Amino acid sequence: MARWRPDILESETTPEALWLRRRDFLMLGAAGALSLAWPERTAAAAAPSGAALPIARRAELAGGEASTPWDDVTSYNNFYEFGTDKSDPVQRAGSLRPRPWTVTIDGEVKKPLTLDIDALIKRFPLEERVYRMRCVEAWSMVIPWVGFPLGDLLRQVEPTSKAKFVAFQTLLDPAQLPGQRRAVLDWPYVEGLRIDEATHPLTLLAVGLYGRVLPGQNGAPLRLVVPWKYGFKGVKSIVRITLTEKQPPTSWSRLAPSEYGFYGNVDPAVDHPRWSQARERRIGEFLKRKTLPFNGYGEVASLYAGLDPRKLY
Ligand code: MTE
Repeated sequence: MARWRPDILESETTPEALWLRRRDFLMLGAAGALSLAWPERTAAAAAPSGAALPIARRAELAGGEASTPWDDVTSYNNFYEFGTDKSDPVQRAGSLRPRPWTVTIDGEVKKPLTLDIDALIKRFPLEERVYRMRCVEAWSMVIPWVGFPLGDLLRQVEPTSKAKFVAFQTLLDPAQLPGQRRAVLDWPYVEGLRIDEATHPLTLLAVGLYGRVLPGQNGAPLRLVVPWKYGFKGVKSIVRITLTEKQPPTSWSRLAPSEYGFYGNVDPAVDHPRWSQARERRIGEFLKRKTLPFNGYGEVASLYAGLDPRKLY
């Protein structure tokens, strides 16, 4: 593979047609490719690294399953701001500077907030939450996140009665996120939740994993974790959280509205137009297993009472 040169667009070095075909193979249609291409091992350390975080509480919410090894969690990633291959983020995330970092919470709130990331983290007791995580590409992991409930933060800014949705935005800075020089997605990466989803106690803002600060490739210094939704909802390296009255746009549904919906709820009965969601492969396992409704977090079902499951994708 050619070495990454942040000053050169990949589309300049690869014939356009090839580039587009390769792109199609990735996030947009990787199911077939996945069975052929097993995750490439990279130089990531086998043991957790980074500064240790003070953890006040722990909750094991993955049915007692062993966590996916650190090595896999931190070297097999989707983070298109570093490239579209699974091994790109671990190799390139060194250009991201997660400190100093400022996060703004604004929009339909009575007390908007702009805060340094470390001051933000100090406001909340950190929890370790072990969650199953399911990617729409039909692979999955079990990850011991460290973070705090997004709802705790939202309560502090006091949403107005007009706050119906929560919009999230990743940092926009091609110097730190060189993939933003290519028009793979509309940058910055944006995501959204309904306010009741955002304040559900399972919804986390993660600042670490395996007890350590989040590595760049996993979305340092702050990323969203919603365990009953497909991984693409888990927006990384967040700089802004805006409460809105109207449903906000989301990066993947803007790119391919027929393939990615606003909700992104895991549902084995609702296939992606191009591949089945019935089964998944846990990274590190050989045989596929059945995918569970809401990724096994059925307690959220009441949030969607009366809604057509096909609209919930
Ligand atoms: N956030 C940003 N900013 N950019 C991305 O490309 N990819 C999403 C999501 N968040 C992505 C992102 C997708 S498709 C997935 S599956 C998860 O991050 C992957 O998270 P992980 O690499 O920590 O497993």
